[in-house]
Amino acid sequence: MSMPQAKIATLLGEGKKELASIKDASTLLTWETKYLGRKSELNEILKGLKDLSPEEKRLVGPVAQHARETLTTLHQEAAKRIEREGVDWDKEWIDVTAPGERIPAGHLHPITLLENEIADIFASLGFGVWDGPELEMEQNNFDSLNFPKDHPARDMQDTFWVKQDKHWKHTYLPRTHTSTVQVRYMQEHKPPIRIIVPGRIFRNEATDASHEHTFHQFECLMVDEPGKVTVATFKYIAETFFSRFFGKKIDIRLRPSYFPFTEPSFEFDISCVLCERKGCSVCQQTGWLEIGGAGMVNQKVFESVGYKRGAYQGFAWGFGLTRLAMMKYKITDIRLFMSGDLRFLKQF
Ligand code: DAH
Repeated sequence: MSMPQAKIATLLGEGKKELASIKDASTLLTWETKYLGRKSELNEILKGLKDLSPEEKRLVGPVAQHARETLTTLHQEAAKRIEREGVDWDKEWIDVTAPGERIPAGHLHPITLLENEIADIFASLGFGVWDGPELEMEQNNFDSLNFPKDHPARDMQDTFWVKQDKHWKHTYLPRTHTSTVQVRYMQEHKPPIRIIVPGRIFRNEATDASHEHTFHQFECLMVDEPGKVTVATFKYIAETFFSRFFGKKIDIRLRPSYFPFTEPSFEFDISCVLCERKGCSVCQQTGWLEIGGAGMVNQKVFESVGYKRGAYQGFAWGFGLTRLAMMKYKITDIRLFMSGDLRFLKQF
């Protein structure tokens, strides 16, 4: 046997033997450098092949190649073995009783949470939840609700007017209140009616801590035969709802007001949830908080949806859901709700 072949055989034998006893990745790396690295003896032999005579080359070449392939395969197997055996079970044990790692997940928006809570309270009073589109026909936002064309009452609602498409059959606008859904619902249903409509609305308002151009309201509509749903019914439902919502006895106060779609119309206050009518900075020492509008549905609205005049009677209200959320969670800046600020949202 010539010299290189003997050397190769020795390298192969020693390499195999050493490899078998290796138990960790860093020793394996040292081994790899020693037997398969660029400066390894085996590589030197392979590099030196070109200087051998053709006769020697034919003999040594295949042996050296074979040795390299064998050591490479063995190295790969050892790497797999070490990876498998390398787990230190003393350190890697699993405590099945340990609390799980919290996987970050989103959650419902505070307004949605409130909508759900409100819907639950109303469900217990026999009310269902209804919905309508945010881009609404002028007809449903104003005309059917007895806002005469060019009547100043339309100015009560700062409307965002949108550019109309020439293919549209109606004039559309981002609804300025949820009262639109009263019309939609009554066009499709006959009394008895008991619904609430939580929804997003849009007003062309300059924003500040208490004004926002996009906010949430919820409408309530209860209609039945004459005499069955009165102002007293409204007061009862309102008192029950607000008392449950705030978890304490809430009083209701009505003040005469004007809305085209109700007659009579009221401005609606609840007793201050903080000071219980003693007077504080939140209620500006009045003991009352303004909540929204309400009234007995105007017969003209009933007519516009196709009911016979005088056939039904009922009440409607429209309250600021966002305002309620501010009261409930003591939030002083309305803009936080639509800000998408996670520092705010994560608190709910
Ligand atoms: N839609 C009115 C607004 O946004 C609020 C309102 C007042 C709704 C009286 C009603 C109502 O249903 O009866 O200003």
